[in-house]
Amino acid sequence: MSTPELVPGLAGVPAAESSVSFIDGTQGILAYRGHRIEVLAEKSTFEETTWLLWNGVLPTRAQLDAFKQELQPYYALAPELVAALKALPRKGHPMEALQAMVAMLGMVSPACDLKDEASRHDASLRVLAAVPVLVACFERLRRGEELVEPDPSLSIAANFLWCMNGVKPSAIEERILDCALVLHAEHTMNASTFACRVVASTETGAYTAVSGAVGTLYGPLHGGANERVLKQLEEIGGPENAKAWFDAKVAAKAKVMGLGHRVYKTKDPRAHSLQNLARELFESHGSTPLYDTALEIERLAADTFGSRGIWPNVDFFSGIVYQKLGIPTDVFTPIFAIARTAGWLAHWREQMGDNKLFRPGQIYTGVHDAEWKDLDDRG
Ligand code: ACO
Repeated sequence: MSTPELVPGLAGVPAAESSVSFIDGTQGILAYRGHRIEVLAEKSTFEETTWLLWNGVLPTRAQLDAFKQELQPYYALAPELVAALKALPRKGHPMEALQAMVAMLGMVSPACDLKDEASRHDASLRVLAAVPVLVACFERLRRGEELVEPDPSLSIAANFLWCMNGVKPSAIEERILDCALVLHAEHTMNASTFACRVVASTETGAYTAVSGAVGTLYGPLHGGANERVLKQLEEIGGPENAKAWFDAKVAAKAKVMGLGHRVYKTKDPRAHSLQNLARELFESHGSTPLYDTALEIERLAADTFGSRGIWPNVDFFSGIVYQKLGIPTDVFTPIFAIARTAGWLAHWREQMGDNKLFRPGQIYTGVHDAEWKDLDDRG
């Protein structure tokens, strides 16, 4: 029997058929259910985009209104969850807290009948509505502040900022976070989405599938790059230092965080939209040296790396936008998780629609017919 070829990391190996999203890395195209990301970033909201991801088509006004009304009662956390949040170690990372709390959400929610579309929809609503509140409440408790009751009249983005800060966000702050959620909501078969589908394929349910996906996103090779871009910009210290810093990185053949992508070989379309958001935010709230430094690094990188297909990715501008919104650095990846919950649940629903348990093969590299020796006879 011939040995199958190993593809490390399953790079490029199709793991499922999916109609949720599409990427063309050469042309810089990302589309959710056929709708280009630039259009969604400009015209849609996170709630509308989630409906699109879950249902395959844009909602009517009545459907969107009904969707928001279904979601908003689920902002409120069960008392058991509030007690558990208060008991979590404050020094843990917010992603570890979120992974634990999403699993616990499943323990206080009604059992989901995986064969029933209404039951799957209800579980999806509960997860999508609770995840931002869980992130916000953990942050608030960590700061030693009292929890704030969620406000069911607010959008997911505005309610998140309200629950975290105890202050209603301005229209522009809400719109910018909402747009960032749209941009991060879905991205084909990345590691956390694959993890979500693998867990889902055992028919365990939405809560464990999303909890597993949160744990996967937490890793620095996946969701953590936005934190590192911010640290890099702080280390440079200002646009006047950018050229010397950049030349030293190039000379040392070191990687510049926020540049390059496994799939995109041109500027990540989400980076274009985030840059527009950053520009809008800095025009209204005043610029910072970090933004000016980022623009200078982008200009230098285009000259040096552009011809090699290394361009800014989505994380190049997200950190400075979140920082300007007053969000702590280690909450950047949880915001990614809030957004990506929409995409994970779209994949969970797709997987449940035609499930097949994931059970890949392996290439065995161990020994055969090893000799058994009794304990006292072993050297
Ligand atoms: N800065 C400088 N050089 C780079 C960069 C970069 N950011 N990215 C790639 N290169 C160079 C490598 O040094 C390598 O050069 P060589 O051929 O001379 O050895 C070549 O390009 C290929 O690099 P790989 O890492 O093999 O390319 P791949 O396409 O597999 O990597 C990746 C993509 C991992 C994202 C890479 O570009 C990188 O590490 N970027 C920085 C980290 C980052 O921003 N990650 C966020 C990605 S977006 C996201 O996850 C949401």
